[in-house]
Amino acid sequence: MRSLPELLHRTFFRTLSLLSPQGQGVLLRRYFDWWHRTPDPWRLSTEDYEQHKYRSTLESLPARPYRRIMEVGCSEGVFTATLAKTYPEAEITGVDVSERALERARARVPEGGRVRFVRADILTHEAEPCFDLVFCSETLYYLGRHDRLRRASDQLSALLGPDGVLVAVHPWPEARRLHRFLDGHASLSRLTERVFTTPPRPFTVAVYGTKPA
Ligand SMILES: C[S@@+](CC[C@H](N)C(=O)[O-])C[C@H]1O[C@@H](n2cnc3c(N)ncnc32)[C@H](O)[C@@H]1O
Repeated sequence: MRSLPELLHRTFFRTLSLLSPQGQGVLLRRYFDWWHRTPDPWRLSTEDYEQHKYRSTLESLPARPYRRIMEVGCSEGVFTATLAKTYPEAEITGVDVSERALERARARVPEGGRVRFVRADILTHEAEPCFDLVFCSETLYYLGRHDRLRRASDQLSALLGPDGVLVAVHPWPEARRLHRFLDGHASLSRLTERVFTTPPRPFTVAVYGTKPA
């Protein structure tokens, strides 16, 4: 059974998703700027649980070179910094709806050369389909209703170039609902899904590949 805070969280973001995608984006931006009023609000840089999740995510990837990487919902760039170290040759783009989060991300991982941060809403962002690795972690549950999850799944898959890999990491079993439009997407096939029963919150790492045209 869902706890009261979880129910309130879900109801709040579902209500925002009754607006147009553009209106929803304006409110998400304000909300996440407010949420980032203090540094590292989810303690992503200090919690062992988060570091374990990052390691598990990287260990779940198909082993191959990745040249163009995007992290959607990068917040203050904690995982982006890990990506920059893990893939020293790759171009890396961090995207987040909150400019305040990105200011801290830029302080953590200086831009220039191969790392950049872009303020954008995944529901409306238009980008070249050129990435060979895209991460979307702990972000889909903010998008609300099913039609927004479907739209986000379309948007995420549209970022991938040929033979691209998309990785979605969300709490388990809620991920069954959050990933359902990725699971059924016409241009994606799920390569692996690993469930980690790590306390305090089980999570899953789902890895998708683009289907050949
Ligand atoms: C819980 S944090 C996850 C950070 C990081 N992905 C991780 O797992 O360590 C969620 C982030 O998603 C961002 N976000 C929420 N909705 C978004 C949207 N529609 N487009 C882009 N970013 C969004 C928030 O601003 C926040 O920084």
